[in-house]
Amino acid sequence: MKIFLDTASLKEIREAATLGVVDGITTNPSLLAKESGDPEAILLEICQIVDGPISAEVVATEAEGMVREGRHLASLHENIVVKVPCIAEGLKATKTLSAEGKRVNMTLVFSPAQALLAAKAGARYVSPFVGRLDDISTPGMELVADIIQIFDHYDYDCEVLAASLRHPLHVVEAARMGADIGTMPMSVFTQLLKHPLTDAGLKRFLEDWERTKAQLAAKASR
Ligand code: G3P
Repeated sequence: MKIFLDTASLKEIREAATLGVVDGITTNPSLLAKESGDPEAILLEICQIVDGPISAEVVATEAEGMVREGRHLASLHENIVVKVPCIAEGLKATKTLSAEGKRVNMTLVFSPAQALLAAKAGARYVSPFVGRLDDISTPGMELVADIIQIFDHYDYDCEVLAASLRHPLHVVEAARMGADIGTMPMSVFTQLLKHPLTDAGLKRFLEDWERTKAQLAAKASR
């Protein structure tokens, strides 16, 4: 499964990128609004740090404006993927943008039917929001499973991008199901690696090694 970071923080992206396992970035207007600086400059800087798909979202709500914004965003850098909301106007815009060869990430997907329409419109990625469904007592992971099952029957060139992942179990479940991509905030990404037994085990290995070295040194000096 490809791992994307869901953030517009250059600090977080730089830090995570050093680990060599970040395949792409997803942003949205809320995430960009949290950062200071020009959003386009931030997007361009992200493209310099991570050589993979970088989602940048349109804010227009009618197709014409979405297409205009999408063309502009895609022109900023070859890595930019245009993120479009899953509404009727978004489908129209996706059809136009994908026909022009621009990659679209259809976002705010909350049902299998929406995902099916997104794929048919030519979206390159579809983003089911797991955590936000959990928030309203609807199992978000079931949506990911349903979309994967549907896409398995057909040949859509559309990857399932599990989004709104809130904790490591969401990430593991998405991988178990075979989601193509999981996007997560830095806090979740950091938790993926941490395990107290790894830390305790490493501490013990190093202590044993130091003790052995000290014993060998004492023997050699006798
Ligand atoms: O990529 C979608 C993500 O930004 C939504 O996450 O946690 O705000 O539901 P969340």
